[in-house]
Amino acid sequence: MTDPKKYKELQYLDRNESQYGPSPNCYEFLKNVTIDELSCYSRDFARGIKSSLSKRIADDFGLPERQVILSYGSEDLLKQIIHYYLERKEKILIPREAWWYYKKVAYEVGGFNVEYPMAKRITNEGIATFMYDVDKMIEIYDRESPRIVLIASPNNPTGNRIPKEDLKRFLDACRGALVMIDEAYWGFGSLENDYVKPFLDEFPNLVICRTFSKYYALAGCRMGFSFAGKNLEELINYSMRYLGYNRISEKLGEIAIDDSEYYERVTALMQEDKEYFYTEFAKLDGFTPYKSYANFMLVDMPMDIRKGLNKFLKERNLLIKFLDEEAFKTETRITLGTREQNMYLMDSIKEYLGK
Ligand SMILES: Cc1ncc(COP(=O)(O)O)c(C=O)c1O
Repeated sequence: MTDPKKYKELQYLDRNESQYGPSPNCYEFLKNVTIDELSCYSRDFARGIKSSLSKRIADDFGLPERQVILSYGSEDLLKQIIHYYLERKEKILIPREAWWYYKKVAYEVGGFNVEYPMAKRITNEGIATFMYDVDKMIEIYDRESPRIVLIASPNNPTGNRIPKEDLKRFLDACRGALVMIDEAYWGFGSLENDYVKPFLDEFPNLVICRTFSKYYALAGCRMGFSFAGKNLEELINYSMRYLGYNRISEKLGEIAIDDSEYYERVTALMQEDKEYFYTEFAKLDGFTPYKSYANFMLVDMPMDIRKGLNKFLKERNLLIKFLDEEAFKTETRITLGTREQNMYLMDSIKEYLGK
């Protein structure tokens, strides 16, 4: 029997936030923030750069600083891109099995969505997964001629990613559109970065969006960064902030990038817990865990236990996300917690099921 009162406060395993928190060096910096950092604008613009953070990222990726865009989280840039480029009645092509938010933005400017479906299959390790079906995507792209195409890799809430070869084939087929790759969940499945520059060189209408919210656990600081292809000068200018960005958040971003050892340690723990979830969920009747390259996992559950399980977990101060959308009726998205939270969640689910 688990202790039903283990947690005195709600544990939010429903929002894809980090439960481990950022590098401890971030707290050290915050203890010593100067008056200047609080009361003055950054002087970086006068130095000919947007910020020392964009310069740092650009140097790491071997790109001109201009091609690195900073934003108020990646949500901000997603919105800026759609508001800037999408005209009334134009289309944006998005995944059907996607973050609900994608489905809203086009309507704000009088545009509309067309959707491409993902396929399902079983991986070589025997785990269920969604996958980008590039042939289908190209077919729909050719038919619909969207102005903007959106790909999320890893995708929320399915947790799958698009392999580089597939991505390249797709980008090749849709050179006429602006393609945005949302990589908000970069880092949890792989730390690969070396495709960024070659892809931007080859596909000048491409934007790759990342964030400090997920892997770097700084969601409260609202820092996103993106890489823009060479045809997107207007977007680069449009997104420019002449008075600079949030100096504290910028600094925290740099400190986080520097502490790769901390983040790799946390990610390794999360990876072990994902393996544990794959095994344990697969043992439960009617449950299907999906392969995850993110900080969350999609789990299909029997419909008839949803309500009762939700109530049972809430009484234990555990929140997970029972999806109720057109594409997801029986699935639940679980944000990976700390080891302790994950074990307690699994034990609680088993207890509810009488296992
Ligand atoms: C797929 C996806 N993209 C982007 C974001 C936005 O993150 P942020 O604005 O914090 O960078 C989220 C947030 O949950 C997300 O799930």
